[in-house]
Amino acid sequence: MDLLIKNGILVTPTDCFKADIGVDEGKIVAISSKMPAEADDVVDAKGKYVLPGGIDPHTHMEMPFMGATTVDDFEYGTIAAAFGGVTTIIDFAIQPKDKTFLETIALWKAKADPKVVTDYALHVAVTNLTEDLIKEIPDVQKAGVQSFKLFMPYRKEGLMSDDGRIFRMLEESRKLNFLVQLHAENNSILEMLIERNVNAGKLSAEYHAKSRPNYCEGEAINRGLAMAHATNGNLYIVHMSTKEGLMELRRWKMMGANVFGETCPHYLVLNDEKYLSPKGRRYIMSPPLRGKADNEALWDGLFDHSLDTVGTDHCTFTDAQKDLGKDNFTKVPNGVPGVETMIPLLYSEGVRRRKMSINRLVEMTALNPAKLFGLYPRKGTLNIGSDADIVIFDPDFELQLSRENLHSKIDYSIYEEFTVKGMPTYTFVRGKPVVYNREYVGKKGSGKYVHAIKPQF
Ligand code: URP
Ligand code: ZN
Ligand code: ZN
Repeated sequence: MDLLIKNGILVTPTDCFKADIGVDEGKIVAISSKMPAEADDVVDAKGKYVLPGGIDPHTHMEMPFMGATTVDDFEYGTIAAAFGGVTTIIDFAIQPKDKTFLETIALWKAKADPKVVTDYALHVAVTNLTEDLIKEIPDVQKAGVQSFKLFMPYRKEGLMSDDGRIFRMLEESRKLNFLVQLHAENNSILEMLIERNVNAGKLSAEYHAKSRPNYCEGEAINRGLAMAHATNGNLYIVHMSTKEGLMELRRWKMMGANVFGETCPHYLVLNDEKYLSPKGRRYIMSPPLRGKADNEALWDGLFDHSLDTVGTDHCTFTDAQKDLGKDNFTKVPNGVPGVETMIPLLYSEGVRRRKMSINRLVEMTALNPAKLFGLYPRKGTLNIGSDADIVIFDPDFELQLSRENLHSKIDYSIYEEFTVKGMPTYTFVRGKPVVYNREYVGKKGSGKYVHAIKPQF
């Protein structure tokens, strides 16, 4: 056997139990309460949790956006992921307007393959949907991509899809069994509010949030979910930030729509007061940070299973890049980091502070994304035959989430004031250590593309 992790507490979405876990040739081959201690490497996990590797379903590595390119490339971004207990990222391959979906996937693989230190899968972010491209979707599914993101906003940035195109993709999603992902904000209202604020000289970071009020998200989520219901399509709302949007998700789930929701750590633990600080532009992302009532509503949504997953929307711009908009919030590249801090924050703020079960944490960060995006049962579970993507999590390890303690290339932390209790200390990807007792031991390019299979909804 290549690896034996002894004496830990294994966590599944339903149970916590003491067992040893054996790994050979990248796969889990044994889970037992009595395992002979023979392996090339034996790690004692006494007093620690053993978790299935996290899957972050929402990252943007090396992404050109709003006049800048995210500073975390696939190497640094996946190193940060591994330190945070994430063993697979699902990144968005953004379609250049003149490229097909398959060409887009090839572009993204060429960037990722030489650099990744964890595994990765892809979604296609659609910017130019045509009937010819719809015909290409079965081949895209054969190439291992089962999810397509459409944007309701970002008309000026060239990403927007109108309602007709969203409806059309939802129709196909039912026929071909893929997942449509939706960035839901009402574009015409937010464009009108942006124009009004800019004309009034209201250009500071707080006007980013004021130009995209809760209503803009709630209305757009409702519209998307209504279209999913009408078409019987499969719809996943990304980065949900408001109590209004959550109420719509609950309502349409109750009506029998095949719909799912994701929120992000920043919408759970940060609020819009951040925009009033001198570095308010660091917190500019879309949708924006909201109020404290929204934070708590989203936690409720995780507890009652209205929300299905947590993704990070890891999208890193340095201070210098954010300064592109130092005099005008509309010029600030949108996005914040998150891949390294997601699981520690969910543990400290969710499991410790709010008494969420660690089983639910594992369900939201491993099993559910694996199932929704076609990675299960290879990923997302500690089971015989699954990839040995394993995290040893020390519930007593304290760490301030300051820039010098994190591994992203970004030059600040948005969580400086948070000290978490509970951190991953070992991260194995297909049985190979990437982080070993908090030391980086991975190898650039050792991660693999994960070919997603058609998900069962
Ligand atoms: O502000 C954000 N969310 N940046 C990344 C792009 C997106 O919409 O996910
Ligand atoms: Zn988005
Ligand atoms: Zn995103």
